[in-house]
Amino acid sequence: MSVDAPSQDQRWPWWPLLPLYPYGCRRTLVRELLPGRIWSFEQLQGVWYVAVPIRMTVLKVADGLMLYAPVAVTAEVRHQLQQLVALHGPVRTIVLPTASGLEHKLPVPAMARAFPEAEVWITPHQWSFPVALPPRLLGFPAGRTRVLGQDGLPHADQLRWLPLGPLDLGLGTFLEYGCFDQATGALLLTDALVAMSSEPPPLFDADPTPLLFHARDRGDEPLLDSVERRRRGWQRLVLFANYLRPAPLDVASLAEVLRTSLAPGCRHSRAHFGVYPFRWRGDWQADVGALLPPGPPRIQVAAVLERLVFPRARPALLAWLRQLASLENLAWLIPAHYEAPVACSSAQLEALANELEARPWAPSEGNWAFLAGIDRTLLRYGLVPSEPPGLAAPTPDRS
Ligand SMILES: [Fe+2]
Repeated sequence: MSVDAPSQDQRWPWWPLLPLYPYGCRRTLVRELLPGRIWSFEQLQGVWYVAVPIRMTVLKVADGLMLYAPVAVTAEVRHQLQQLVALHGPVRTIVLPTASGLEHKLPVPAMARAFPEAEVWITPHQWSFPVALPPRLLGFPAGRTRVLGQDGLPHADQLRWLPLGPLDLGLGTFLEYGCFDQATGALLLTDALVAMSSEPPPLFDADPTPLLFHARDRGDEPLLDSVERRRRGWQRLVLFANYLRPAPLDVASLAEVLRTSLAPGCRHSRAHFGVYPFRWRGDWQADVGALLPPGPPRIQVAAVLERLVFPRARPALLAWLRQLASLENLAWLIPAHYEAPVACSSAQLEALANELEARPWAPSEGNWAFLAGIDRTLLRYGLVPSEPPGLAAPTPDRS
């Protein structure tokens, strides 16, 4: 296991346009997940220090390597990939397994340029906002970009490809291709399932600033470091990332924010000069248990997906989960966010499907209220369908 030194992102023209942590200075944690077969390249990505891990999974295929859900191709990522290439053969295939996940879509063109011999496979129904652009103008290389399902499937003798969708969500299409490596029993996913640890991921070891920033109660508190404060910051990040505005969070008034800004010890950019608009209520930790129960990480559907992507698509999600549960020799789950690899069996996924079917779906109370408000607004303006989504329209010509 190694942590790269920070470096400026290369060929990553987007970060100056968005307030995305870590602001162009991105570290990558490279781990071997299954010996000689699967590796994880993890980076942090987020806004206002609400940073969560994003993962590219590298899989050994018959004649080289396959990259599933690329991350930003920094100099360190290139270097680490070249080390794997030297041992296992060239990068043959780059896969964008989601139609909608912008954080997975943006790194693909640069990764494709870094490996000009690789085939690029994308899902159908790629879309862009506010202007609908053809894939060619989204940066996918002409001549070596293929569409999953329409142009075949890569490494089909070794891998099973398991699409969830396409689901027409009004604003765009949700489609995610799971990838099952039959030899190892590892199931690679993008966003549909996650498993979060109650402890901060090792990715924060090199720079725990986001954790320490959110561990505070006021902007004039300095960023003090301790195991407990890192854990507290992580729990708050998880609440943010799942509910966007969790119930025990109040937003401070401008006057209050200004009063605690520029305090001694906080007059530097790392502390955002003391600007901290959050007020956590005293009982906030009571809300953590549902997401981060004691014991091993629990496989779950992220709340933000349940409430904003799948609120009327539970049947499609359950059918897909049960399809995954029928995979022979399923042993590991490797999502593109949070923990991996997570031990995973068919019985677990079947139990998850049963649980999701039995409990109230996409609730609107408590922590879910903010997400529900967004959904109501989208419904009011007719931007999302009020009925369960059907199959999306045929994919536009990709030329
Ligand atoms: Fe994602």
